[in-house]
Formats: sequence, structure tokens, C-alpha cells
Amino acid sequence: MTDVLSPVLMTADPATLATTPGRIVVFAEGEAPKSALLRRIDRLTRGMLAKAMAAEAWAKAKPGEGVELTHAPGLAGDLLLVRLGRKSGGEEVRKAGALIAKGRGKADVLVLAEGLGRLQDLFLGLMLRAYDFDIYKTGEKTAKGAVTVSVSDLAAAEGALAAARAVAEGVLFTRDLVNEPANVLTTTEFARRLEGLREIGVEVEVLEEAELEALGMRLLLGVGQGSACPSKVVVMTWKGAEGAPFALVGKGVCFDTGGISIKPAGGMEEMTMDMGGAGVVAGVMKTLALRKARAHVVGLVGLVENMPDGLAQRPGDIVRSMKGDTVEVINTDAEGRLVLADVLWYAQERFQPSGIINLATLTGAIIVALGSENAGVFSNDDALCGAFLKAAADEAEGAWRMPMGQAYDDKLKSRLADMMNVGGREGGAITAAQFLRRFIKAGQPWIHLDIAGVTLAKGDTGLAPKGATGWGVMSLNRLIAEGYEV
Ligand code: BES
Ligand code: MN
Ligand code: ZN
Repeated sequence: MTDVLSPVLMTADPATLATTPGRIVVFAEGEAPKSALLRRIDRLTRGMLAKAMAAEAWAKAKPGEGVELTHAPGLAGDLLLVRLGRKSGGEEVRKAGALIAKGRGKADVLVLAEGLGRLQDLFLGLMLRAYDFDIYKTGEKTAKGAVTVSVSDLAAAEGALAAARAVAEGVLFTRDLVNEPANVLTTTEFARRLEGLREIGVEVEVLEEAELEALGMRLLLGVGQGSACPSKVVVMTWKGAEGAPFALVGKGVCFDTGGISIKPAGGMEEMTMDMGGAGVVAGVMKTLALRKARAHVVGLVGLVENMPDGLAQRPGDIVRSMKGDTVEVINTDAEGRLVLADVLWYAQERFQPSGIINLATLTGAIIVALGSENAGVFSNDDALCGAFLKAAADEAEGAWRMPMGQAYDDKLKSRLADMMNVGGREGGAITAAQFLRRFIKAGQPWIHLDIAGVTLAKGDTGLAPKGATGWGVMSLNRLIAEGYEV
């Protein structure tokens, strides 16, 4: 897995500032150097700091943004001045951390963070933005400089660092899985990587095709039947508390060609990310285990590959679900809902969870509706949904609730079977959610997160470079921490 940036912590020795090579980062508010540290740097740089803080560029810098002072007199390296104060919110502090990571070159960086609140957010921003998925670039890689953070309370900072690291490792685990190409991350390799979570105390069980057949998961198996990669369901358990578990369910389509209803060639390579829901479930499980969460959480992922083949499922096939309902497969490219239906049913039958959230890169229609700013949130339970939306807002991960209703469900009616797997072009993300809801038991609090638009970023998002974002790991971790921990 991609390494997580690991800053070195120390308590500052201001006497060495003048001779520190590389880059120095300081935080400031207002229009003039006020703290002892800032005044000291101002003296060292012969007034250059005060001048910079009186200039227009600094006035324009928003919290978490900064100005760079190169060739500062009295310093061996350059200075990055970042607008941040004691009262800055978590999002702003993370932004500052990301700014430091983004600007990092070969030179070492010393961050003067004594007196700064929310160190955990600073570390998290650093770790998330320092991520770079470059394992397939064979050229010489320029080593990045080390990051040292000087703090006033070393013990407290160590705690904040460990807490940030638990979250960052989960997010980066998800990003790595999503960024991997499908020839590497096959269903078998995905299951193997999940088995690696045993090392940190997660119980991992892999259900193979024969077992899935015996359970009656024909909807899931039908999707994978045209692929050389065996279909699997992986069950991860983190038992940090007694009682009914909370369940997370992920769509893990390792590659989605569309099957016989094949997709157009343009952009099809993006469908390596169609296991993004399963990737988020894996990332959350990792974070929960690393921080030893006092919660009982099960994570289930359906791993399949959707390929066209002589054995592949055909449009028009009628397939029986584990629940018992039959589905007329009108379009083999609407495969995610078929996979999820069986795994959702299995999760409820086996675990009677207190709540269940599924994640899936389910529809192009949610991208049309919400773009890449928000995931679509569909739910049958206002309390659970409200708690999730609050957690997502607190983590600054965009999430927007979408409507559901009988009229949308009616579009799934089939002439031959209990339902069709598509409901037509109109409201495509909603009819997909209605399909899933048919596999949720009455009274079962449930959320479906359609993450098709937020899983991959077309460019820098602030906390992530172009590519996999890891959207959702932080929100779900927070939801569990705030609502499901003893
Ligand atoms: N994996 C796709 C959805 C998707 C599209 C994810 C673009 C990320 C980016 C899903 O399996 C799919 O193909 N959905 C179809 C459903 C349709 C056939 C009803 C879609 O959205 O076009
Ligand atoms: Mn598809
Ligand atoms: Zn898909």
C-alpha cells in the first residue's frame, strides 16, 4: 500500500530557526506579526514578515491559504505563511495541512505549529494530500523532503498524529484499491487484500461461488458468470462492542464493461473504479480497527467482474434473487443493483443489523443530477439519514438527499417477472435506489449512497490529487464514532 506521510514531531528550539534549511511554515492571523514567534521571525527577516502581512496577497488569503516568501533575508530557506488561527475550523486546518503537502518538494519542511489548535486536522490534511499513486511509473522518483512539526505539547501531538493516521490509512487504502487497474485488482486479488486486514484484528471471511450458489445469490452470480474471475462475497467483522452490528455493504464490480449491453469505448477505462463502494467499506473497516473503535460493525462486499462472453448473462434473462423475488434483466449494464440486492439481503438475514448503509458507483444519472460535488443519499429512515448528513457535513464530504416514492418504484414493473432491473431513462438514479429498497426489510433503517460522481476526481480536490478520492470513509467513520460507539 502507498506509504502514509509520517511527520516527525519535536518541541521547537527557536534558536536554530535562522539556520534551518529547506522550508519553514508558520501560521498567522491578522495584518501584523503579533505572537512572540512571529515577532521573532519578523526580526530575523528584518521586517519582511510584517511587510508581507501588510500586503494585498496576504489580505486576500483565506483561512488555510498562504503566501510564500522566497529569499527571505536572515533565513536559510524560504518561508510559507499560512492564514490560520486558534479558532480556525477543522476544514480550514486540513486545508492548511494539504497546502503544506502540496507545496512539498525535495527540501525538508519545518512546520511551526506550537499554539495551533486542531493538530489532528493538520496532520490529516498533510497525509491525505501527500498521497501519490505512482507505483506504475518506472522512472527515477525524486525523493520528497521530510516533514517536521514542532509543537508545544509533544504527548498531545503524538495522540493527534496517531488519530489522524488511523483515518488517513483507511482513506488511502480505499484510494489505492480504486486506483488499481482491473488486471491487477481482480476479484481474487481484492479478496486477498481484504484478508490482509486480519493483521489488525478484523475478522475476514471469503464466500466462494459454490457457497454463494448454495445461499441462492443468483443475481450476484449472474453478473459474474461471463468473467474468468470468480465472484466472491467478503464479510469483514470488527467487534469492538457487543450487540447488533451496524452493516456496511459495498458494490465491488472490479470492471464493468456493461456485459452484453456493452458500454461505448470512450471512457470505459474509468470502470476500473466500479468497485469504489467496496473500496470505501474496506477503508472504513481499516480505520475502525486501527483506532480500535468500541463499535460492532460488519462490512460486506460483493466482488464480481461484468464481462461479455459466451457464458455471460443476456438481456431478457430472468433470475431469482436470494430473497426469492425474480428479476428480468433488461440491461446487463445495470449490474450493480443486482450484486447489491443479494448482499443486502444476506446481510439482513445473517446479522439483523441496527442500521445498514450501502455504497455503490451505481448510476451515471446521479452524476447528471449532482455532478462530482455531492453523493446521492437515499434513505427510508429520517433519523439515520439526518445523522449521516450531519457527519458528512462535518467532514466536508458532499452529500445530498434525493427523493424516493411509489411512482418511481412503479417504473420497475415487469411483464414477466416480479421486477425489471431498470426503470427507464427518467430519474435513473432514483429508480436504481427503488430497486435496492425492494431488498430492504420493513423497519430496517437503511441508506443507499450513490457515489458514482464522487469516487474519482477529474482534478485536484484539495485533499486529494486527481484520481481516487476515498470519499465517504471519513463521514462513515464519524457516523459510527458519534452514533454507534459504547
Ligand atoms: N457503473 C455504472 C455507473 C457509473 C457510470 C459509474 C459512470 C461511474 C461513472 C453502472 O453499472 C451502470 O452502468 N449504470 C447504468 C445503468 C443503466 C443501464 C440503467 C448507467 O448509469 O448508465
Ligand atoms: Mn454497469
Ligand atoms: Zn457498474
